Amino acid sequence: MSHIHQVIRERYSTVTFSSKQIEEEKLVSLLEAARWAPSAFNEQPWRFIVGVKGKDENYKKIYDCLMEANQAWAKFAPVLVLTIASKNSSVTGKPNRFSQYDTGMAVGNILAQATSLNLYAHQMGGFSISNAKEFFEIGDEYDVMAVMAIGYKGDIDLFPEYIQERELKERRRKSIDKILM
Ligand SMILES: Cc1cc2nc3c(=O)[nH]c(=O)nc-3n(C[C@H](O)[C@H](O)[C@H](O)COP(=O)(O)O)c2cc1C
Repeated sequence: MSHIHQVIRERYSTVTFSSKQIEEEKLVSLLEAARWAPSAFNEQPWRFIVGVKGKDENYKKIYDCLMEANQAWAKFAPVLVLTIASKNSSVTGKPNRFSQYDTGMAVGNILAQATSLNLYAHQMGGFSISNAKEFFEIGDEYDVMAVMAIGYKGDIDLFPEYIQERELKERRRKSIDKILM
């Protein structure tokens, strides 16, 4: 792992967030990083709903969509982001088969930018899509993809043992020969 770039090497999905707020300019820089992702036909299908704890209603709405198991650790993160893909081409109106692919790349940029700022992001698929669509009045022309908790890493000693264990669990990956077809 030593031969890959620091922003890839140091990223992981923490479950021990600090409640320290993210500086406004850093939060904006995450969205700026997303903007510059590549996309098919430069469609830029990614959309985000950002919730800042204690600052807006978005945070609580996103939090309320999460599964309990995710709420247990995500509640400490100062920012929750709902990631959305705009399904159709803005030119033809027809389905854009790259919308989710491109949205994932924009999120990848967010992850790299976050890591470069010593921030951590943990994505979640464990939430109610139907609640998210209802709470934010999101139409069927969008795919609600994931929720991302973002913040600084907190002091692991302040967390219950089961969360500490999860935080310290060995991270595993398939070997290169398993991902080559
Ligand atoms: C689309 C997506 C959905 C995920 N859903 C959850 C989730 O609901 N709860 C959770 O704790 N982690 C979730 N994860 C985090 C993954 O479990 C994690 O990325 C994976 O185990 C690899 O660990 P790492 O991110 O620390 O490298 C999700 C990640 C992605 C990309």
